[in-house]
Amino acid sequence: MPTVTLEPCVDERRPSMDAMFQLYVHDFSEHWAGLDRGELEEDGRFEDYPGLERYWVEPGRSAWFIRVNGHLAGFALLSASSHSGEPADHDVAEFFVVRKHRRGGVGFAAARQLISARRGQWEIAVVKANIGALAFWRRVAAAMAAGEVDEQWVDDERWNGAILRFVIA
Ligand SMILES: CC(C)(COP(=O)(O)OP(=O)(O)OC[C@H]1O[C@@H](n2cnc3c(N)ncnc32)[C@H](O)[C@@H]1OP(=O)(O)O)[C@@H](O)C(=O)NCCC(=O)NCCS
Repeated sequence: MPTVTLEPCVDERRPSMDAMFQLYVHDFSEHWAGLDRGELEEDGRFEDYPGLERYWVEPGRSAWFIRVNGHLAGFALLSASSHSGEPADHDVAEFFVVRKHRRGGVGFAAARQLISARRGQWEIAVVKANIGALAFWRRVAAAMAAGEVDEQWVDDERWNGAILRFVIA
């Protein structure tokens, strides 16, 4: 098992986050066939993450690099938003492991470090089409939750997919 570490992404390193976000959107664009969203811009890039700057200014938000044996291998964006409408202390807004390092436990190790360090009510929303991510977050939540994991399915203006809610004691 490689060494998985988290590093706060300081504002000066935002370009690295922007670059990895391009890979993340490319992964997600697989789920957007037939929809208007997710077209490449004329410069060959996807639109930058809207509101990324909020992760360095708004309380409750934070941005993290995931490193594998010291190499950049993904990122996590945390906030305190709620898709369910119920109160949440923390949520995983975005989470990404680069393809080379998938299915080796890197995402699990990074998620465990992030989540175990933050007590309270967690919420993780996963879009309906992202079946692999739902399996991943179910595994993480089941391993970490102090009690039951509440799984809601919604298809309305709040969200289209699953919302996992659990408590870290
Ligand atoms: C989802 C993601 C973060 C998982 O990262 P990862 O490092 O590959 O996950 P892990 O290796 O730690 O997986 C832990 C367990 O989760 C489950 N899991 C992870 N990815 C899965 C997949 N694609 N399909 C089914 N189960 C999966 C498995 O049970 C896995 O254990 P196993 O490999 O021993 O069977 C990664 O695939 C990714 O970045 N995807 C693209 C972006 C994305 O969808 N992010 C989530 C947004 S909500």
